[in-house]
This record gives sequence, C-alpha cells and structure tokens, in this order.
Amino acid sequence: MNEPMNEELQQAICDLPKAELHLHFEGAAPPAFIRGMAQEKNIDIAKIFNEDGSYAYQGFEHFLSVYEAATSVLKTPEDFARLTRAVLEETATQNVIYAETFLSPDFCGGGDVAAWREYLQAIEEEAARCESEMGITLKGVITCIRHFGPEKAKAVALCAAETQGDFIRGFGMAGAEDMGKQSDFAYSFDMAREAELHLTSHACEWRGPSEARDAIMDLGVERIGHGVRAIQDSSVVDLMLERDITLEVCPGSNVFLGVYPHLKNHPIQAFRDAGVKVTVSTDDPPFFHTTMNKEFQDLVQVFGWGIEDLNEMTRNALNAAFCDETTRDTLMKRLPE
Ligand code: HPA
Ligand code: ZN
Repeated sequence: MNEPMNEELQQAICDLPKAELHLHFEGAAPPAFIRGMAQEKNIDIAKIFNEDGSYAYQGFEHFLSVYEAATSVLKTPEDFARLTRAVLEETATQNVIYAETFLSPDFCGGGDVAAWREYLQAIEEEAARCESEMGITLKGVITCIRHFGPEKAKAVALCAAETQGDFIRGFGMAGAEDMGKQSDFAYSFDMAREAELHLTSHACEWRGPSEARDAIMDLGVERIGHGVRAIQDSSVVDLMLERDITLEVCPGSNVFLGVYPHLKNHPIQAFRDAGVKVTVSTDDPPFFHTTMNKEFQDLVQVFGWGIEDLNEMTRNALNAAFCDETTRDTLMKRLPE
C-alpha cells in the first residue's frame, strides 16, 4: 500500500475538480510572497524562515506566533488584494474550483467595521477577477481568534454581521483551543446567526470531545473545524449525526502538527464508517507542506481510497458549503458524474 503511486493515478487525482472549506487566508500565503512583502517594507522577519525558505516553527503555539509574524507584513487593503491573487493562483493549480477562506478582521483594520470594509472590498474585487481568469470561486468566512478573547470577538462578529452578503457567508472561530471555552463566544455567534451567517468553529483539534459538543450545543455550529478528537466519545459522534454536522478535516495538518503520529492513525475513515460527513482541506498549506493533490494522494495510499471516495469528499464539501444555492448547483455540474 505504500509503494509509490503510478503516474496515471497520480495525474487522475490532480485532474479531479476539488473543493475545500477550511483554508486560513494568511496561512495559505506562499512564504516567498511574505518574504517579498517584508523586503518591500523593510521589515525583518528572517527568523520565521528556514534556510530553504519555508516557514520555521516548532509545535502549535509557535506556529500561531509565526503565523502572526508573517501576517504582520500585510498592512494595506492593496496588500490583501495581492495576497488574494497569490493564494488563488496556488489553490487553482490543484484544480480547486471552490474554496472558503477564513478572514480575520483582527488583521485587517483591528476589528473596526469601516476599515474592515476597505480590506474586504479589495479582497472581494481581486477574488472576482481571479474567478473569471482561473475558474475558481472563493467565499469568505469571518473568524474571530480564540486567544484574542471574547471582547475582540464581538468586534469581529460585528464586522461579519455588517458585511454578510454574497461573499461573506459565515462566521467562525480559529486560534488556540486551550484558551477559555466555546461558550465564552456565544454572544458573537448569536450576533452572527441573527445576521444569517452560517457558523463553524475549530474544536477537537487539541482538546477532547466535549469541545465539539460545546460548539454544537452552545454556539449552534453547522460545521466543525477538525472535530477529529470527538471520535473518542460515541455520544458526541451520535450528536454530530443527529445534527447533520459536517467536519472540515485537515489530515495533513493534523499529522504535521502531531495530533496523530501518522496518517494511518487518523480517524477520517472511522468518521465515515460512523456515517459522519467529512470533507478534506489543507488548513495552512505551505505551513504544513501540503496541497489538495497531496492530501488526496495520501488518502489513497494510506486508506486505499479510490477516485469515487475522493469525489465523495468534494460532493460533501459542496453540499456543506456556505455559498448560495445557485453557486452550489453551478459547481456541482462541474463534478464528474
Ligand atoms: N488552527 C487553529 N487556528 C489557526 C490555524 C489552525 O490550523 N491556522 C491559523 N489559525
Ligand atoms: Zn484551521
């Protein structure tokens, strides 16, 4: 099963149209792009790069601080427009036809609604240009950052509520899972729900099953970012089934960060066996040295999945996408029969 994959199958996997729901916007920034921005602005962030030019960090906490250091070179709406193009060019090479990305007003104007609108306009306009050039549709999910605390999250939720529309489709939470509780953010999630945004939250990447239960019961999420550790408690798996929760699974991220020692230990297939809807995403692809093609190829190699299993991941992603129904129907028509 671990023999090298034949080239024909490898190419067939590359050629599949794909969709990913869990992609941190700044976390998808190619390191060369961030280095270039730093040079232009005379900001010294050399210490966040390895000699080979990749991002340098050890462990999740350090990852978050390197992420924030990389993000600190992005200052203006124009910088974020350039980031949009850099990210979509990379993502389009994987034949991704639909992506949802986590956008953080904390990094774009500090949670001020008027400033956020300017960043959003720059991002959205560039995404529209990229869509017509590259055939990839991007939608935004605004995320508060757990380790910035519930008060900052309220300002972010207000940015989300004020800019809900064709592009901003959802609200979620990322960041350090060991800070506080899901329910500390209930006010923000309530505000987002009232603004008719869809909801997702990172849970059970690091902490145990109760995090997913709390995200479902206390925040009312429709999807969970990761959710993988919930496999340890069948009552939480049952709750996921009952509420028709879709998991945004990022296998390569989980293995790279050491949530599981090897992909063969990952519960993605166990969730499928239990009937839970799973999808596959890259999380922060250059940080975790992954791509959608690699994720798919690794699942085929380690779990013996076939093309139909991979296409099921893409259909699950489009079914659970926070986009409007017209977009969903149009994208579904681009998938193989
Ligand atoms: N997990 C949680 N928070 C994050 C991540 C992640 O992978 N990337 C950026 N913020
Ligand atoms: Zn994530």
